[in-house]
Amino acid sequence: MTNELTVVLLAAGGGTRMRSKTPKVLHAVAGRSMVGHVLAAVGSLDPGRVAVVVGHQRELVGPHVTERRPDALLAVQEEQLGTGHAVRVAIDALAAEGPVAGTVVVAYGDTPLLTGEALRAFADEHAASDCAVSVLSGRVPDPTGYGRVLRDADGEVEAIVEEKDATPAQREIVEINSGILALDADFLLDALPRLSNDNAKGEYYLTDLVGLAREAGLHTGAHPVADVRQTEGANDRVQLAEIGRELNRRILERWMRAGVTVVDPGTTWVDADVVLAPDVTLLPGTQLLGATVVAEDAVVGPDTTLRDCEVGVGASVVRTHGLLAVVGAGASVGPFAYLRPGTDLGADGKIGTFVETKNTVLGRGAKVPHLSYVGDAEVGEGTNVGAGSITANYDGQAKHRTVVGRHARTGSHNVFVAPVTVGDGASTGAGTVVREDVPAGALAVSAGPQRVIEGWAARRRPGTAQAEAADQASGPDGASSAPGASD
Ligand code: UD1
Ligand code: CA
Repeated sequence: MTNELTVVLLAAGGGTRMRSKTPKVLHAVAGRSMVGHVLAAVGSLDPGRVAVVVGHQRELVGPHVTERRPDALLAVQEEQLGTGHAVRVAIDALAAEGPVAGTVVVAYGDTPLLTGEALRAFADEHAASDCAVSVLSGRVPDPTGYGRVLRDADGEVEAIVEEKDATPAQREIVEINSGILALDADFLLDALPRLSNDNAKGEYYLTDLVGLAREAGLHTGAHPVADVRQTEGANDRVQLAEIGRELNRRILERWMRAGVTVVDPGTTWVDADVVLAPDVTLLPGTQLLGATVVAEDAVVGPDTTLRDCEVGVGASVVRTHGLLAVVGAGASVGPFAYLRPGTDLGADGKIGTFVETKNTVLGRGAKVPHLSYVGDAEVGEGTNVGAGSITANYDGQAKHRTVVGRHARTGSHNVFVAPVTVGDGASTGAGTVVREDVPAGALAVSAGPQRVIEGWAARRRPGTAQAEAADQASGPDGASSAPGASD
C-alpha cells in the first residue's frame, strides 16, 4: 500500500443563489476567495496531486485556482451531473497524467472555515483505519438538506442517504455527511463507473460509494468532526456574511491568544493574511486588510482601515485610511490621515491631522503635522512641513517631484510648484509659493510686504457691522486701540 495522497476539490457548481456575476467559490471572506481558503487548508495536507473540478465560469475559476496552486490540475466538468460524476471527471483527468494510487480526499470549494488541522486529522484517521471509504460527518441541530449517515447495529456506516431519497425516519438522523470523503484509490477507480443516477435527483451521487463498498465487503467509517462549522458552505450572501463574521472571530481569537489586544472584536476585522506581533493593540473600528503587517507595541485605531500596509514597532495610527503605505517605528499618523500608495514615513516621523500623502518618502523624524497634501515628494530627516502646505505635483499633463532636504523648516501655507527642490536646512516664509529651488540654508519668501490702509472699513463699508466694530475699536481721538496695540 502506498501513502500517496491526492486531493479532489469540487468547484463546478453554478452558485445561483449568490445572484452574482462572480462565481460562488470566488466570493471572498477575510480577504481571500472561498476556494483560496480551501486551497490553503489543502496545502497543509501536502498532497502529491490536486485536481480541481471546474465547470460554471471556469474561465474565471480556473486561472484563480492556478494562481494560488500552479500545480493544480483543472478538470472540466461540462455538465453538472452530480458529485459522483464530478469526481469521475477529476479521476479521469488525473489518471491521464499518471496512475492514481493511495488515498483520495474529496472536498468542496466553498467551505472557507475548514482548517488544515481538521483536514489532516481526518486524513490521518482514514489512513489508520482499514476503511475503503471514510466520511467526515457532523452532528447538527438541523440536518435539513444534508445527506444522512446511516449506521448499523455495530455503528459501522451502512450508507449515506440524500435528503430527497430519505424516508421520514431517516430524516430524523442528525449525523450528516459534511461532503468531505477519504477513499482508497483502488476502490474508487473500480467503483466510480458503477455509480448510477437512479435516484430522486437523477444525479450520480458520490455518497453511493459507501453502499458499494459495503456490498464489496469493505469497511466504511464516519468520523464526526467536533467543530461542524468548519464544513459549512456558503450558498447565498446571507451565509457568506455569517461565515465571514465567524472566520473573523476565529482569526481575532487566534491573534488574542498570541498576545494581541483587541479591544472590541465585534468591530475589528482582520484578514487571513495579516500578520500581527505580540503587544499590538487594535482599537474599535479597525480593519486590517490584505497583507498588512503590524509590529510590536503599535497601536492602530480607532476607526482605521489599512490595506497592504506595514506599521512599525510602537507606531500609532489613529482614524486613518491607508493603502500600500509604510509607517516607521515610533511614528505617528492621524487622526484623519489618508496614506496613499508609496507613502513611506520614517521612524519617529509624523503625518498628522487632515493630511494626504502619496508616493512620498519622509525621512526619520520628518513631520507633516496639519492640513496638507504631499505627493510625489521626498522630505528629508528632521524636516518640518508647515501647516496647510500643498505639493502642486501635477501640471495638468504630468506629475513632478518635490524634494525637501534635511532639517528644513517650511512655513505654513506653502505651495511647492514641482519640480522643485528645497535644500538642507533651508526655510521658507508663511504663504510662500515655492516656484524655484531654494539653496541649502537659505530663507525663501514670495509674499510681498504687507500694506496697511488705515480707516478702510469706515470709508468703503459704511453702515455695516464691520464698520461699526472698527469704530468701536477706535479711541475718542479716532486713533486705533486694537488689542495688543498698547498696554
Ligand atoms: C452533497 C452531498 C451530501 C452532503 C452535502 C454537504 C452528494 C450526493 N451529496 O449534497 O451528502 O450532506 O453535499 O454539503 O454528494 N458539484 C460539482 N459538480 C456536480 C455537482 C456538484 O462540482 O456535478 C460541486 C458543487 O459545486 C458543490 C459540491 O459539489 O461545491 C456539492 O454539490 P451540491 O449539489 O451542493 O451537493 P448537495 O446536494 O448539497
Ligand atoms: Ca450543497
